Parts: sequence; structure tokens; C-alpha cells
Amino acid sequence: MAKTRDSWGSRLGIIMAVAGSAIGLGNFLRFPAKAASNGGGAFMIPYFISLFLLGIPLMWIEWTLGRYGGGFEHGTAPGIFHSVWRKNRFIKYFGVIGIFGPLVIFIYYTYIGCWTLAYSFFALSGKYHAITGQADMQAFLRGFQGLEHNTYFQGIGPAYLFFLVTFIINIWVIYFGIRGGIEKICKWALGLLFIFGFLLMARVLTLGAPNQLNPGWNVASGMGFLWNPDFSALKSAKVWLEAAGQIFFTLSVGIGVILTYASYLKKGDDVVLSGLTASTMNTFAEVILGGSIVITAAFVFFGPSQIGDIARSGVFNLGFVTMPLVLNQLPLSELLGFCWFFLLFLAGVTSSISLAQPAIAFLEDEFQISRKKAVTIFGCVAFLLCQPAIFFLGRGVVDELDFWGGTFFLVVFAAIEVILFVWVFGMEAAWDEIHKGADMRVPKIYKFIIRYITPAFLFIILGMWFAQEWLSIILMKNVSSDNRPFILATRLGLLALFLTLGVLVKIAWRKKARQAQRIE
Ligand code: ALA
Repeated sequence: MAKTRDSWGSRLGIIMAVAGSAIGLGNFLRFPAKAASNGGGAFMIPYFISLFLLGIPLMWIEWTLGRYGGGFEHGTAPGIFHSVWRKNRFIKYFGVIGIFGPLVIFIYYTYIGCWTLAYSFFALSGKYHAITGQADMQAFLRGFQGLEHNTYFQGIGPAYLFFLVTFIINIWVIYFGIRGGIEKICKWALGLLFIFGFLLMARVLTLGAPNQLNPGWNVASGMGFLWNPDFSALKSAKVWLEAAGQIFFTLSVGIGVILTYASYLKKGDDVVLSGLTASTMNTFAEVILGGSIVITAAFVFFGPSQIGDIARSGVFNLGFVTMPLVLNQLPLSELLGFCWFFLLFLAGVTSSISLAQPAIAFLEDEFQISRKKAVTIFGCVAFLLCQPAIFFLGRGVVDELDFWGGTFFLVVFAAIEVILFVWVFGMEAAWDEIHKGADMRVPKIYKFIIRYITPAFLFIILGMWFAQEWLSIILMKNVSSDNRPFILATRLGLLALFLTLGVLVKIAWRKKARQAQRIE
């Protein structure tokens, strides 16, 4: 007997789950780093244009396609794409990206998530409290990551322990399913996250001008850095690419997770207002909280000339070096440090569970196995896949995984979705489908945007990427010769993973075809 699919317990539940997926490390670490390294105000115009022309349309497309596919008991892209384009034998293989991408991001995301849990403890216990300089705080981080042995850490043991705890928390949540695990955890975690976020924001905004030698390094100028528009940036292709990439990553669109979450909706459930609410929560968390906490704090303590360099020195430096140094200078620094890192941890967990769900849903829906079995298989496979990210972090493995899973395939996958939606489903049918059960109408201009602007935007991004970077990435021109074997091995591993998923899709469809024949 076919088992019934899991479902959301309430509308608030799915909104919080999608917002939880969207609000992640990307909001509090990746966004400030991107904004600061692209000149602050220069970044925000392409950012908002990308939000309105790419992010929001794709978000509606994914909610709609997901709900549609769920009606055929498919929770992942292979089945959803196949439901939309039944005559095409190959489209389901394009859907493999919607399981592959989240799985690849999950591999490194969970590991980074564990650092935030570890640092929450370090903050409370005062482990890094005495550190006052950039170099020492960096050494602390590198020691923790197992990249060097120093006075702070003599091996990767502590990091591995926190990884195990974080991994188990993720598996434990998804084990309880959509309604019993993900929905429950997201509701309280997001509430707590916003409380911590507001607390930190209030603290940063009341910093004034703490550096008496440089009164210009103050909160108002820090805010101005992000909010004073700089139209000259519109001419830079790189800024556009970075802004569009950030929109994908932060909204969790083009990954495959919204498809899966929306597949647990019922036919008449609204997607328009719910999708918009989740996206608005994400943008608020990113721009208002993520922007004002890190960027303003870094500006006030390190000044306008250093903020760009700090951001360019990497996402991790901003979160794990700059922020602890800033917070260390304030009263109640242990508590503030805990708020910062635990906020990141909550943001991370609510995202990583969403990244795990597509693979689980694929096993459950297409192989008709129980959630318990699916979670066990996923847990074992994902655990093994995480190991290279942990042990070869210093070799650039995480960056490589982030490039393919968290950047490149997002744009490709989004392009496939738009084509399916606009041309195969057909814009008129798609427009009706979006509005089934809708609590508000999508502004009519979006019919035009979804049909022409979003696909054109996506193809321009892909075209520009191919023109500018394709060859140097394939030839690993920016990779040091020492690291090349590791990057090559990562690429081969990713290829093997992709092919394995493709074969699984083939097996699942064959099995179903045989079952259908037997019934006839
Ligand atoms: N959307 C998630 C983030 O921003 C993946 O971190």
C-alpha cells in the first residue's frame, strides 16, 4: 500500500520553515562580506534589482512547481520536472541538480555550522576573551580548524566533536519529519534568532564613536557606507554577478529546497503571500540585521579603509575574527559573543535541515521507503561525504564545493526551472497555477518579468560567466599547484555523486514503469 506523504501542520509552519531555510549563514556572514568588498552602497542597487527581477519571481516559480509536483507525490526536481513535461524522457535527469546541489551545500554547510556552535561555547567560557589582535584571533581560528597547531589548539579534535554534535542535531530533526521535526524546530529557532538579532543590532547601533582618535568612525557613517548609493557600480559585471549570486544563495532559490518544502503543501494552499512573507523575512534579516550588525560594527572599530580588506579576507574572517574582536571590547562581551555565535548556529541549522530534505524526500517518494530508512541512508552517506570538507579545508575543498553546489548549479537549475515554467507549462497555465488558492494577486507586471526578464537575466549571467571565467576555472588557474590534486579529486567526487544520483533516478523510474505494467 502506498504510504501517505508528510505535510505541514500550519501555514505559519511552512512560512517559518522556508524563512528558516533562507535565513542562514548567508545572511549574517556572506552578505556583509559581499556588500563590504563591493563598496557597500555600490552593491545594494544590483542587489535589490536582482531581488525583484530574479529572486522573487524564482521564489514564486519554485513554490508553484513544488506544490504542483507534490500533487503527484513527487517532492524533488526529477519527479516534479517529469510531471510538468511528461513527454520528455530526459528532463528528469536535469532534475538531479535539485538533489545534488543541496546535498553538496549540506556537506560543507553543516561543518561550518558546527564552528558557530563551538564558538558559542568558547564565547561563554571566555576561551578567546583575552585575544585582542587580528593575528592572534586568526591563529585561534586556524588552530580550531586544524590548519595549524598552536597554543590554542593542538589538533582538529574539538572541531570534530562539535561537528558530530551538529550533524546528529540535523539528523535528529529530519528524523521527526516535516511536521514533527522541521516545522517545530523552525518556529522556535527563528523566534530566538530574531531576539538575538535585535539585541545585537541594538548594541551595535548604540556604539556611537568609540574610537576617540577617529570620531568619523561612527555608527552613522557605518550605516552610510551601506546605504549611500553608488550608481557607478552598475557598470561593473562583477558586482552584478556577486549580487545575483547572493540573492540565489540567501533566498535558497535555484537550490531545490523550496521545491521540496512546497511539495508538502495541499493543492489549494496559498503560495503567493506565503512565499512573499518568507522572502520578506529573509531580506529583513539579511539587510537590516545582517547588514547593520557586522558592517556597522566593523566600520566603527576598523574604519572605512580597512573594512573592504577585512571583507575581502574572507567570509570566515568577518564572522570568526572581526566580530569576536569587536565584541571583546564591549561590556558583557561573553554574553554578546554567545548571542552572535548562537544566532549563527540557529540560522545554520534551520538552513542545513532544509538542504538535507530533498535527498530524504527523493528516497521516500521515488523508492517508497520509510522516513526512518531514508534518514539512515542519508545520514551514512552524508557523514562520509562531509569528511573531505573537514580534513582538507586548507586545500580549498570547501570553496570548490561552494562554487559548484552553492553558485554555479544554482543559476543553471534556475534557468531550467524558468524554461519549464514559461515555455513547457505555458505562461497562461502557469499564471493560473500560481494563483490557485492565492491570498493575493501577483502584480501583473510580473507576468512580463517572469516571461522575459528573469530568463534573459539568467542567460546573461550564465553567458557572462562563461565568457569571463569558464576557462580559468576548468584549468584551475587560480588554484595553487599543491592544491590541484585535491581540487581535481573533489571534482571527480562530485561527478561520481552526480552520476550516481542519475542512475538512481533511472532505477526508480524503471521500477515504477514495471509496477505500472503489472497493475495493467
Ligand atoms: N539560504 C541559506 C543561507 O542564506 C542557504 O545561508
